[in-house]
Amino acid sequence: MKHYADPIPHGTTTSVHFFGHPAHAMLVPFPIAFLVSVFASDLAWWYFSDPFWARMSLWLAGGGALSGIAAGLVGTAELLVVRDIRRRAAAWSHFVVAVMLLSVGMANWGLRLGDAEAAIVPMGMYLSGLGVLLVGVAGWLGGTLVFEHRVGVLNEDEED
Ligand code: HEM
Repeated sequence: MKHYADPIPHGTTTSVHFFGHPAHAMLVPFPIAFLVSVFASDLAWWYFSDPFWARMSLWLAGGGALSGIAAGLVGTAELLVVRDIRRRAAAWSHFVVAVMLLSVGMANWGLRLGDAEAAIVPMGMYLSGLGVLLVGVAGWLGGTLVFEHRVGVLNEDEED
């Protein structure tokens, strides 16, 4: 029988997947692309003074926050269900940074719902910039889980 004092094995299976492909890895490209693009779109608004970019930032911030929550729910299911994922400190570091990212993402979206243009300088840009930084750290830690710890890559028959 497995015991919590056992050494953590290298590699784990995945609990939320389509035909063996981890669903979290399929979902995360959406929030990553949206949340990085909000900052680029804010810069475009600042440079061109065209309201189009303020509306673009509003939609990107909303898409980033909602797709991030969807990815986060799936990631949390992995964390809670797969024992050898939740035993890894790296998984909890990724979780904490991801929750910070989602909080900043929701705040950035909420701020823009009233007047999308007035919200950009300075608070919108500050939140978008912070979002890019947190996407980088969360993505790096997520990559560490997959490429170093080999989380989610084993087939069920390879499990320890
Ligand atoms: C909020 C809770 C989250 C939890 C608990 C979580 C958990 C995990 C876990 C367990 C993995 C390993 C792969 C797997 O088992 O599917 C992973 C990978 C990853 N996560 Fe998260 N995650 C969360 C949110 C996010 C968010 C919001 C992002 C980015 C916007 C993100 C980006 C990544 C990336 C880039 C990988 C590597 C995927 C790959 O290259 O295959 N995660 N995450």
